[in-house]
Amino acid sequence: FSVAKQRYRDPEAVEKMNPFAEQEAWEEHQIGKATLTFGSKNRKKAAEDYDYVFEDQIDFVKVSVMDGIDEEPNEAEEAKTISKGLQEERKTLPIYPYRDELLQAVKDHQVIIIVGETGSGKTTQIPQYLHEAGYTKQGMVACTQPRRVAAMSVAARVSQEMGVKLGHEVGYSIRFEDCTSEKTLIKYMTDGMLLREFLGEPDLASYSVVMVDEAHERTLSTDILFGLVKDIARFRKDLKLLISSATLDAEKFSDYFDSAPIFKIPGRRFPVEIHYTKAPEADYIDAAIVTVLQIHVTQSPGDILVFLTGQEEIETVDEILKHRTRGLGTKIAELIICPIYANLPTELQAKIFEPTPEGARKVVLATNIAETSLTIDGIKYVVDPGFCKIKSYNPRTGMESLLINPISKASANQRAGRSGRTGPGKCFRLYTAYNYYNDLEDNTVPEIQRTNLANVVLTLKSLGIHDLVNFDFMDPPPSEALLRALEQLFALNALNVKGELTKTGRRMAEFPLDPMLSKMIVASEKYKCSDEIISIASMLSVGNSIFYRPKDKQVHADNARMNFNTGNVGDHIALLNVYNSWKETDFSTQWCYENYIQVRSMKRARDIRDQLEGLLERVEIEISTNLNDLDTIKKAITSGFFHHAAKLQKNGSYRTLKNPQTVYIHPSSGLAQLNKNKIDQDLQRLLILLFCYAAQVHPRWVVYHELVLTTKEYMRQVTELKPDWLVEIAPHYYQLKDVDDPTTKKMPRGQGKSAL
Ligand code: CDP
Ligand code: MG
Repeated sequence: FSVAKQRYRDPEAVEKMNPFAEQEAWEEHQIGKATLTFGSKNRKKAAEDYDYVFEDQIDFVKVSVMDGIDEEPNEAEEAKTISKGLQEERKTLPIYPYRDELLQAVKDHQVIIIVGETGSGKTTQIPQYLHEAGYTKQGMVACTQPRRVAAMSVAARVSQEMGVKLGHEVGYSIRFEDCTSEKTLIKYMTDGMLLREFLGEPDLASYSVVMVDEAHERTLSTDILFGLVKDIARFRKDLKLLISSATLDAEKFSDYFDSAPIFKIPGRRFPVEIHYTKAPEADYIDAAIVTVLQIHVTQSPGDILVFLTGQEEIETVDEILKHRTRGLGTKIAELIICPIYANLPTELQAKIFEPTPEGARKVVLATNIAETSLTIDGIKYVVDPGFCKIKSYNPRTGMESLLINPISKASANQRAGRSGRTGPGKCFRLYTAYNYYNDLEDNTVPEIQRTNLANVVLTLKSLGIHDLVNFDFMDPPPSEALLRALEQLFALNALNVKGELTKTGRRMAEFPLDPMLSKMIVASEKYKCSDEIISIASMLSVGNSIFYRPKDKQVHADNARMNFNTGNVGDHIALLNVYNSWKETDFSTQWCYENYIQVRSMKRARDIRDQLEGLLERVEIEISTNLNDLDTIKKAITSGFFHHAAKLQKNGSYRTLKNPQTVYIHPSSGLAQLNKNKIDQDLQRLLILLFCYAAQVHPRWVVYHELVLTTKEYMRQVTELKPDWLVEIAPHYYQLKDVDDPTTKKMPRGQGKSAL
């Protein structure tokens, strides 16, 4: 039996099938390391029941049927729902018959665990029931969500159902965006935001009920919330706690919350046929596109939901699907493509909930958000490539990366279930039945066990929780990761040798940012450049959506981008230049167009910056500017990011200083431009031979913002640094021997650049 080993999203395969591959060369789109070993032993055994054969490319085989949870579809009832108003629609949800029973349970118990199939109405209805029963008279009802989009979209829906303006009685609060007011009674928020609210209000006095929703997702913030709310429930007997989950591992929650009762909402789901590919697919993006088209051409009406791992993939599939359906002609029904991911502008997010017009078919391209957080009606087909992006952290090296990973069986079943909400559905898994049974883990590992804990440790320390080892974790993090976090915070000078919060640490905790970013901001006081640093911090917080690069104007876009990096100032200063130039034009939209900059991202950066400015005032750091001395700005950056220092190697790659690892400058970096401009290959080889020269092409020492793993481990947002700064800024972390650099002595820096 041969083992089919394949690289998912092999870059060459992508290029072949993707007419836009060249344009995407800038994006991180290939996932080189997500290699999966899939066997093919049982493939033919499983392939017995062919009731379904596609005309072309991909062969699927129906292997099983996931049973429905209720009786037969009641079409008459479904039809009624559509014509009735929102209030009537609320009554058709599976949770409705249990309304009074649920309210009674809340009255009788302080903590309850609620379990119900996705779409049964937990998120939208329970807070309303509580409001109707008068709980909002004593305080707000909080409902936490692991994802920003879910918090926003659910709040919008509930405000509609209640007939109030969003932000009044019903609001939401996500990082850098507070859409609530004095009037707010029901507040949807990310779990991270509720965690931050503990800092200002350790007993959560403004809330009468806290509903930790989507508890099965086990995000880092949710897990920490568990420990904190469990603790306050002990001394705030009036506070009601609801823990709600879409999966059946409720016992575990119940055990953790001192045997809290479990309230089950019987779901409503129709049978779902599970189809697998007959053979493993080499490129799941291509396979997903082909499958969507096959469904569109061969299957009866009903919308399609495709699970992808992130924005870049969604954009790729969106573009290719548009391109391919253009060629289909008028014989085929219209295919409406609706993407949904965290950074999608709100107006476009609403589009996925709009009913599909008669005769057309909708295909929703979603991230994991559609697995349990959002319910989209009318989905009859699910396409599941079997992957998701998850954060992974290596406590030994302190490296954190976003990786594309196979999903768990539990996720696969959640995904499949999305197709059986309004009638019998079909799920097309782009992997084999063998893969499913033998290669997928049962459950996803909770985030707390695979992430950098520095942020959480800082928050807990500022809440006065010192004994982290004995904190009541549902699943404790690896002790090595905890130790790493303490070390990192110590190196950042946020904790003293006794592990207590320092003044710097206390100030850092005020910022809703990663400790390295908050340290950079706090350090800007010393270097008198807080004005520049908060601009840089807000631009970094927006993510990688500042610049855009239309495929017919790549050269223009690149040139525009390079203008901000004049003098090879590095990516951080380039971001600052973008922000300042935009500000000089009085925040002009036209200017953004001319410079290939996304105006939406800039507006977001401006909002974030305003908030950071407010926080500076709170920690009493004066706004000061030092634009004439770029080195001071770079030193402030280094104060936060000295862990992320790397040194150039002879072969043109870089090596991180501590815990050495080979890394490269991301092709989108201004510092990678020389390389990108296709220096003649021979010349480049020559350059590498003549290391002295090569060293002048790339800066010898750099500090980077983050690592992304695509085909290689890339550093994104890179700035040159002087090695002696490291010893000056972080003497407890770097010694002279770490930055000893014989080549620097032989050849003074800066020479040779002009020779090129
Ligand atoms: O939380 P749970 O998965 O149990 O269900 P829910 O999110 O409360 O969804 C209940 C119903 O509200 C579903 O039928 C959704 O389609 C609908 N809904 C909607 O139409 N628009 C939203 N933004 C959210 C939910
Ligand atoms: Mg929900």
